[in-house]
Amino acid sequence: MIKSILESVYSPEIFKEMGHRLVDDLTKHLDDKINEKTNNAIHWNEPDDELHFWQEFLKNGNTEELFKEITKRTTYVHHPHYIGHQVSPAAPITALTGMISSLLNNGMAVYEMGMAPSAIERVVTDVLCKKIGYSLKAKGFLTSGGTLANLTALLTARRSVLKQDVWNNGNDMPIAIMVSEEAHYCVDRAAKIMGLGEKGIIKVPATANFQMDTSVLEKKYQEAKAKGIEVFAIIGSAPCTATGMFDGLDEIGDFAKKHKLWFHVDGAHGGAGIFSKKYRHTLKGIEKSDSVVIDGHKMMMMPTITTALLYKNGKHTNATFSQKADYLLTESEHEDWFNSGKKTFECTKTMMSIHWYTLLKMYGEQVFDAYVTHLYDMGKSFATIIANEPNFELAVEPMSNIVCFRIVPFGLEPKQLNRLNEMVRRKLLEDGEFYIVQTKLRGIHYLRVTVMNPFTTEKHFKKLLKKIMKFAGKLKPYNF
Ligand SMILES: Cc1ncc(COP(=O)(O)O)c(C=O)c1O
Repeated sequence: MIKSILESVYSPEIFKEMGHRLVDDLTKHLDDKINEKTNNAIHWNEPDDELHFWQEFLKNGNTEELFKEITKRTTYVHHPHYIGHQVSPAAPITALTGMISSLLNNGMAVYEMGMAPSAIERVVTDVLCKKIGYSLKAKGFLTSGGTLANLTALLTARRSVLKQDVWNNGNDMPIAIMVSEEAHYCVDRAAKIMGLGEKGIIKVPATANFQMDTSVLEKKYQEAKAKGIEVFAIIGSAPCTATGMFDGLDEIGDFAKKHKLWFHVDGAHGGAGIFSKKYRHTLKGIEKSDSVVIDGHKMMMMPTITTALLYKNGKHTNATFSQKADYLLTESEHEDWFNSGKKTFECTKTMMSIHWYTLLKMYGEQVFDAYVTHLYDMGKSFATIIANEPNFELAVEPMSNIVCFRIVPFGLEPKQLNRLNEMVRRKLLEDGEFYIVQTKLRGIHYLRVTVMNPFTTEKHFKKLLKKIMKFAGKLKPYNF
């Protein structure tokens, strides 16, 4: 019994048969979505109903239908009507590299458990460092997500900048980072994990355009200093998540240099702009940073989850989790570029480097330029359409493919407008033709679009606005 069940689990024939069928089904899924042979970006189901379905399926469902049901009951990121969260429609070739990684399952923690992907990771991160504008001293590695990468970078910053060895001895000094109030919440979370507490997160106010107000940096820094708080790092968002607006990296870089702070760039979303000839300017000053995070699964067409963490000084790659206090002086660690587990927070990780390398090998760097440039262009194009519609308004002129807007029919109070936009978004979700998200900015409820799909066009934007108008028209003012 045990033998036969295990033989069945590992049967190459079953794998081949199911695999071929799955590739056929996924090919049809892709064709249906990309070419709009079906209309919806999501078939919304309430969480409890979905839970019930899968509880029931485990007992009575037809195994033959399992993959089909999973595929059907998800959000279709390849559909041009998907303009929601910052997750890319994975380039189909990276579904194949994902399959290689899953089947070969090399754990990557040590070179011996992933020779090719470890060397490939070095090649890929070297390309990224060069593109940032770092010197040959730079190095990086791949890790599981922007959240983890930001935490890792801040741990490196603390080790590198402070005199006290917090990693080994703990901390009893008030220390802090500086970050825009608009930064992704994972930076706050990282600081809290590091034990910095509320006082250790110095929030820099944002301008009317939601960018870090760099004119107050000196004041904020001096206030902290007067209170005996030692600032060790400053983080620039490139861009911030809610509005897609970029902090002024150039000015932040100068400020960091003046006060000998670690300058970290959270480029989880827009770091890929290093490849865009047209939009490289959004990252002006990125080369002044000490570390940069770039997500492959956001603006680089890769499947979740893969993130590059790049350091200006390659010695830091092996140092963050090192037990040695004087790590920067330790030559052998500097040389040890190939053992992933020494550098990353996680021990085991997927062979994620092969997604990056395969895209580079098959299409060259220009594929990332094409993707970022086109999507940012489309963000601007959507904003132009909004600006010409009297019933809509933008939160801010977008700098990227993230656009926040709302419907503003005449004669409604601010509270009613908030409720109307909230209800419209709910209606859109239940309807399922389009998938967009929402955010609250300074108390105002906005609808939020991230153009992630290269096949989303002006035609789709106009259709979306028409739909929003229709839903808003049907909602009675006394309901909100
Ligand atoms: C600016 C920014 N930083 C970090 C993150 C978190 O990245 P991840 O989801 O890869 O953990 C996000 C996610 O949206 C982001 O937009």
